[in-house]
Amino acid sequence: MSETSHILVIDDERNYLLVLQTLLEDAGYTVTAINDPETALAFLEESEVDVVITDMKMPKVSGREVLERVKKNWPHIPVLIMTAFGSIENAVDLMKYGAYDYITKPFSNDDLLLTLHNATELARAHRHYRLLQAAMEERYGVHQIIGRSRGVRDITTMIERAAPSRSTVLITGESGTGKELVARALHLASPRREAPFVTMNCTNLTAASMAEELFGHEGQAANGAIAIRRGRVEQAEGGTLFLDEVAALSPELQIRLLHLLQDRHFERIGGTEIVQADVRIVTATTRNLSALISEGLFRDDLYYRLNVVEIPLPPLRERREDIALLAAHFINKLVHENNLTLKTFSPDAMNFMTGYEWPGNIRQLQNVVERCLVLVPTEIINVDDLPPEIRDEESQFKSAVDLLPVQLDLADTLEKIEAALIRRALVRADLVQVKAAEFLGISKSLLQYKLKKYSITGH
Ligand SMILES: Nc1ncnc2c1ncn2[C@@H]1O[C@H](COP(=O)(O)OP(=O)(O)OP(=O)(O)O)[C@@H](O)[C@H]1O
Ligand SMILES: [Mg+2]
Repeated sequence: MSETSHILVIDDERNYLLVLQTLLEDAGYTVTAINDPETALAFLEESEVDVVITDMKMPKVSGREVLERVKKNWPHIPVLIMTAFGSIENAVDLMKYGAYDYITKPFSNDDLLLTLHNATELARAHRHYRLLQAAMEERYGVHQIIGRSRGVRDITTMIERAAPSRSTVLITGESGTGKELVARALHLASPRREAPFVTMNCTNLTAASMAEELFGHEGQAANGAIAIRRGRVEQAEGGTLFLDEVAALSPELQIRLLHLLQDRHFERIGGTEIVQADVRIVTATTRNLSALISEGLFRDDLYYRLNVVEIPLPPLRERREDIALLAAHFINKLVHENNLTLKTFSPDAMNFMTGYEWPGNIRQLQNVVERCLVLVPTEIINVDDLPPEIRDEESQFKSAVDLLPVQLDLADTLEKIEAALIRRALVRADLVQVKAAEFLGISKSLLQYKLKKYSITGH
């Protein structure tokens, strides 16, 4: 692939330039040869270039200045310096300013081609990396957190506020509420965005293997030397370590994590060397950590270290106004990614969707949308096309009741449910009482009586 790389060669001696151009073109490169540095730098503004080769001594603008300007404006382009034998010291000096390498004139063609080949490989790795980075930001940036509810606006504000610092962040919320998405968006909004985002689910492994997975391992190799395996903490160096389901950490690992947070260094399992760690720790949990603390299952000192900033994610049923928006977002995304036919939900179908409890939250909504896109043959998705648990009122009712504790005060609970249903109907009716009464199948005067009884005002 390096054959197609575009090389910019700058040298004030025209003859030399010509020789170089022929040599590189014969080797399969695309070459732009320019004998005036200013013109060459202007060319960089207009054209994508993979590697710059510049002479060191030129009358108006020196190779050093070319290097400085390229590094400032296009830091990813490797710059190769050509220098006469007598000025090697200066060339070595330029390495400190970020030159990729230098070659002394006169050079052997093989040496030049080898050095250039390595430089184009580096340029290609950079290009590849930038594409991946752009794809990550496209997929997981803050702008991918969809919703206009108060809850979602609060989340994006908190992400933006918390991003610049290295404070720990604890993300709480039911399954499928977007915890991982928020963790990634936080990383991408932070100054650490170019460094790794490493995740680890604490429920997946036994305590012993998890310790090694997190902190790495040191042991004796067959030849007697120390063998080192890096853990996730080291892999995330300079970046963010996301610990999912942090409640599942064993007591021993809780202590190790606490020490890591306090001391910013750690020891690998089986090792003695102290390893410095610059990582931001973000954790997530579906479980209530305070309850686990009172049961003695989670250390409170660790908890306070972990939730310097807490981002609670509301369940989808508490931000129903986002359901239609999210459904449209997933339709667009899935249609685009999988080349499916565009479909829309009928108003009736959407009513059922916004009324459903969504125990699996946004992930469940995404799955339902995908299923409808794949299975429904028509362009309109009707009520009958919805999965039974959403269109069947009986099972909706059942799933709502399933969420209640078995032991409860019946009269009190019924009143709470009645008040909640009235509030929901009002919101869904845009606060128009006649419409809300219609949703509930009661008269307007009965509704007004109940509004008073439960002290429900505007919202
Ligand atoms: N506000 C949102 N806007 C758009 N997509 C979202 C939003 N929240 C979550 N998603 C999407 O929903 C899916 C589930 O989100 P995610 O995996 O982050 O949830 P989670 O809380 O980590 O779930 P679990 O607890 O099951 O691991 C993902 O595909 C994610 O991109
Ligand atoms: Mg998750």
